[in-house]
Amino acid sequence: MVKRRVFGWEWLRTICTLLLVGTATLALVGCPGVDIDPPVDNDNGSTDTPPVDNDNDNGSTDTPPDSTGDAPTLKGLDADKAMVLPFTVQAAYNDDTMFFHMSWEGDKGDTHDYFRYTDGAWQREGGVRRDAQATIDEDEARGSTGINSTIYESRVTFMLDDPTGPNAVEGFLEFGCTLTCHDNSRAMPTWVHDDGEVHKYLPDTIPGRLDLWHHRLGRANPIGLSDDQWVGQRINGEDDGKGGSRHGDDGTGPYATASTDDDGNPQWVFDPATTGGLYAFPFDDLFTSPLRSFVDDTAADLGVNAPNPVGIDYADAIAMGYVPSEGDTVPRRRLRQTEGSRGDIVADGTTFTASSGDPLFGRWDSNIQRALDTGNDDDTALADGNIYNIAFAVHTGMVTVRDHYVSFGYTLSLDGGDADIQAVKMSGSGSGSLPDFSDTTTYPVTELDTFLPGIASYGFLIGENAELEYIDPATGVAVDQGHAGATGLLTQGLSCRDCHTVTDAETFDPPNAGGFPGGAMETLVPQRGGVNTPTPIPAG
Ligand code: HEC
Repeated sequence: MVKRRVFGWEWLRTICTLLLVGTATLALVGCPGVDIDPPVDNDNGSTDTPPVDNDNDNGSTDTPPDSTGDAPTLKGLDADKAMVLPFTVQAAYNDDTMFFHMSWEGDKGDTHDYFRYTDGAWQREGGVRRDAQATIDEDEARGSTGINSTIYESRVTFMLDDPTGPNAVEGFLEFGCTLTCHDNSRAMPTWVHDDGEVHKYLPDTIPGRLDLWHHRLGRANPIGLSDDQWVGQRINGEDDGKGGSRHGDDGTGPYATASTDDDGNPQWVFDPATTGGLYAFPFDDLFTSPLRSFVDDTAADLGVNAPNPVGIDYADAIAMGYVPSEGDTVPRRRLRQTEGSRGDIVADGTTFTASSGDPLFGRWDSNIQRALDTGNDDDTALADGNIYNIAFAVHTGMVTVRDHYVSFGYTLSLDGGDADIQAVKMSGSGSGSLPDFSDTTTYPVTELDTFLPGIASYGFLIGENAELEYIDPATGVAVDQGHAGATGLLTQGLSCRDCHTVTDAETFDPPNAGGFPGGAMETLVPQRGGVNTPTPIPAG
C-alpha cells in the first residue's frame, strides 16, 4: 500500500508558530481556533466503539512487524496475548507534590475513535476487540455488532486507598483491583450488550471511595494531562444491576466527545488555519498523521507538541468552503484544558520510545504529578509519614474492560515505614522540577508483574459463586466457580499475595503469615476460561 503523509510535525509546528508570532490578523484566524461549547463527557470506552491494526498489542514477546501503521481493520480477540505484563513503578514527593513514574512495554495507543467519510457519509471508526469479536461472531448479546475497525487508546491507571482516611475502603489491600470487578460488569459472564457500560464498582457491603488516577494516553496525554476519577458503591439508580460506579471527579475532564447532527456529520473538523490548510486527514495515515488528535482553544498551547491542531464546528468549516472527500478522517474526541478536581493530575515528562522496527510498539514512561493534598474530598490526600494501599492496571493492545492487565494490592509508603513501594522524600515544592527517575539508586524501582484477570470476579473470590455454572464457549465445559481461598480472604485477613504469585517463575514470598502456596495467576486464571477468548456465560 502506498503510504501518504499529510505532513510532518515540524512543518505543522512551523506554520502554527508563524501564525502565533505573526501579524495580529493572522494570529486571530490561526491556531487558537473558534470557541465551541464542549459536548458530552463520555468517560470511557463506550460499548460501541473500535481501533487499529497493530499486531503487537501488548507486552508479548512476538516480533513486531515492520509496519509504519496500516489503516485499522476489524480485529477480534488476540489468542496469543501474553498473560503477564512486567511493570515498574517509582515514586517521590516533596513538600506539596507527589510524583509517579510507571513503565511498561506495549502499543503506542495514542489514537482513540474517529469519524471517516465513506461513500458519501461519515461513519464511526474505532472500538474495542471484544466488540470487534461480537461483530465478527454476530453475537448481539456480547457486544456491539456494527463496528468497522479496532482502534483504542492505551492507559495506565491505579486506585489508591488511605486505610485511615475518610474514604477508606476495607479489603482493598487484600483484594486489589478485583474488589471492583463483578459478574455483571461489562464483558463478564452475566453481562449482555443491552446492559451498557457497567464499569467497576465497590461491593454493596463495602463503603468508601477509591481514588482513580487514570492516565489516558490518547484522550489526555497529548496535551500533558491525566484524568482524575474515583470508584465507589453504586448510587443514584446504578444499583439496578446496570451501571457501575466509576465517576469523574468534580469539574471538567480532558476531552469532550463529538455529537453528530441529523445528517450524521461530526460536530468538529480541523481548523485549516492550524493544519496548513487541512480540514481532515486520510484514514490510511491514521497512525502516523500528526493530526491524530485535536483540541479546543483552551488547549491550543498545552503539551510538548503545542501549538496543537484545533477542532472547529463542522458548520463553520462548510461555510469556509470545506467539501468532505472519500477517506477524510477527524477525531471523535476533542481535547481540552481540565478544570476543578478532575484536573488535579498532570503528566509532564511522559514519553513513548518506539522499539526498533516498529514505530507503534515500544516503551511507555508515564510520569504523573499531583498535589499531595488537593483539598478535594474526591481525592485521597497523601501526607508524609503514612502508608497507603495501591493497585495498578495497564490497558494495551486496543482493549478495554477485563482485557487489561491488573495487579494485586500493594502498599506505598511516604516515609511511613515498611511497604512494597517506597516513595522518596525530596526537598522543595511544586511540580516544576521532576525527580530524575533514571537515577534508580536514589529512586528505587519496584518491579511488579501485572496479569490478565479473566473472569476472577469479587463474587467468585469470596465463594459466592460456588453453586453457579458458567459454560466456557471455547471448550463447552462448565468453569469451576469454587475458590479455595475464599475463607482466607473473608475471615483471616489474607490477601491474594499470601497464597498466590503472578508468574510461575516467581518465588512465593507472602507478605503475611497464614497463607499457603495456591499457584500462579499465569497458570490459574486461564484454566477458568475467558481470558483471550469469549466470556463464559450462565448454563441453560
Ligand atoms: C488462603 C489462600 C488464598 C487466598 C488468600 C487467595 N486464593 Fe486464590 N486460590 C487459592 C487456592 C488454594 C486455589 C486453587 C488452586 C488450584 O486449583 O490449583 C485458588 C484458585 C484461584 C484461582 C483459579 C481458580 C480455579 O478455578 O482454579 C484464581 C483466579 C484465584 N485463586 C485468584 C485469587 C485472587 C485474585 C485472590 C485475591 C483476591 C486470591 N485468589 C486469594 C487460595 C487462595
